[in-house]
Amino acid sequence: MLHTTVTQLIGQTPVMSIDVPGRNATLVLKIEKNNPGGSMKDRMARSMVIAALEDGRLAPGGTIESSSGNTGTGLALAALEFGLRFIAVVDHHAAPDKIRMMRALGAEIRYVEGDFREDEVAVVERQRLAAQLGAQLPGALFMNQSDNPANPAGYTGLVDELVAQLPDGIDAFVGCVGTGGSMTGISQRVKRNNPAVRTIAVEPAGSIVFGKPGHPYYQSGTGTPAGDEVGKVLDYGCIDEGVQVTDTQAFETARYIARRKGLLVGGSTGGAIYKALEFIGAGKLTGTVVTTVADGGEKYLGTIFDEEWMAKRRLLDPAIAAQLDGWLFGKARAA
Ligand SMILES: Cc1ncc(COP(=O)(O)O)c(C=O)c1O
Repeated sequence: MLHTTVTQLIGQTPVMSIDVPGRNATLVLKIEKNNPGGSMKDRMARSMVIAALEDGRLAPGGTIESSSGNTGTGLALAALEFGLRFIAVVDHHAAPDKIRMMRALGAEIRYVEGDFREDEVAVVERQRLAAQLGAQLPGALFMNQSDNPANPAGYTGLVDELVAQLPDGIDAFVGCVGTGGSMTGISQRVKRNNPAVRTIAVEPAGSIVFGKPGHPYYQSGTGTPAGDEVGKVLDYGCIDEGVQVTDTQAFETARYIARRKGLLVGGSTGGAIYKALEFIGAGKLTGTVVTTVADGGEKYLGTIFDEEWMAKRRLLDPAIAAQLDGWLFGKARAA
């Protein structure tokens, strides 16, 4: 098939399996970083734009979103497809390459003002400015991904692809939670197909989605930081268990998967893989366990994959690789 817009390249992402010998489990990675914007967010961004155009909330003139970068990149692509203007409101927390990417795709970038710590997300300020711009500019709309039902609805196709790709079925889904859009969209649909599927949601330690006390964290694009509200799109009812992963566990896992499997995954994916393997290692999940590669490590070469950046923030810990070896190869099982 000959495609005529880049957004037609969204979806139909491949799957890659990692066997876990002796555990009667296979970890299946849905390689969402292969979407044209480099993340799963391309799906929901296009879904939100189409929904807004269809019900007349969005007219030619613009789209505005507060984003750590991946939603923004997806919106930049959708804006190109539908001839819209796109302004991305970002803070210093967003990976610099994500901002460069949005700019390359024609997005206008607005930084929030204020003095924020490096590991502090200025999400409240970002949303305030985006909403303000959405209200001020004629024909513009603040996409408000955390409260936008077209966010979870954008992942319907992902599950349908998985069903076709995995004829033996899905036994569990382990995903990250930021807005909760992907976790909700994917979990609701897999459970609709088969209510027995176990769903595990992973948030960064320091995020407040599952009621634990908030503190700053470095994982980008995922979790809800203290001071922000959990997204209305998040349906707790479709999540069997919510767990936390530390920055070190998430980042060391991303580095390990790169070294051992040749696959560059981002930090939030590292966290989901760590938790999936931990559950498999403990015998708490068996069968086909799916997680998404929400985005790629290419977006974090200057941070997670930079030894100095990691060391300076005391995020390195060789014990994590030993633990992963234990879960994957049966070495140091007790670790
Ligand atoms: C890299 C990455 N991981 C995880 C998430 C969380 O996804 P969701 O907002 O669907 O909960 C995001 C969201 O921006 C992200 O960019």
